[in-house]
Amino acid sequence: MEQTATISVVTATESDLDAVLEIERDGRPEGGQVDFVASAITGGRCLVARDGATVTGFAILDRSLFGQPFMSLLKVRPADRRRGIGTALVQEAISATEGDRLFSSTNASNTAMRMLLGRLGFVSSGFIENLDPGDPELIYLRWLGGAGPAAITAPVEAPD
Ligand SMILES: CC(C)(COP(=O)(O)OP(=O)(O)OC[C@H]1O[C@@H](n2cnc3c(N)ncnc32)[C@H](O)[C@@H]1OP(=O)(O)O)[C@@H](O)C(=O)NCCC(=O)NCCS
Repeated sequence: MEQTATISVVTATESDLDAVLEIERDGRPEGGQVDFVASAITGGRCLVARDGATVTGFAILDRSLFGQPFMSLLKVRPADRRRGIGTALVQEAISATEGDRLFSSTNASNTAMRMLLGRLGFVSSGFIENLDPGDPELIYLRWLGGAGPAAITAPVEAPD
């Protein structure tokens, strides 16, 4: 378990579903990816950050990227951002991943996620055009356990 001063990161349980969905909805009164989140929780693939009893963020791990370990969603409550919660969740995702690599992705426009991933040792692993018009989806890779080309140290560059 990753832990900062007051933040702990644990595997979500079904009692976390409503809190995770509220963060996932990001202010929208209803809707959201209910089935996607519920299935991740049931499958033990959802991590939650807790500050005391309050869920402040979550990460979902799956294999939706070509069957590879993939952090498909990471989200922190707006009021709790820049407190290290995203970092703690990704560090725990790295620890929880078996094998030699963990992928993630984000839009090129998402400076916060790109900065966070870069600081935690993720490197560029290509991009996908034509998902969101004019805003490529950047693929990131974190080598685990000393795997990967030793020469990869450069920060990720966005496509032009
Ligand atoms: C991306 C996100 C998860 C970051 O969570 P967070 O808890 O705020 O991240 P941290 O506090 O751990 O930040 C770690 C570092 O990332 C970078 N960072 C985070 N937010 C940033 C921002 N808004 N602008 C620039 N850099 C940022 C900084 O380098 C930061 O370190 P610092 O605070 O010491 O400068 C959060 O902004 C979020 O939930 N965004 C909406 C959902 C989303 O876009 N998810 C990613 C795609 S799935």
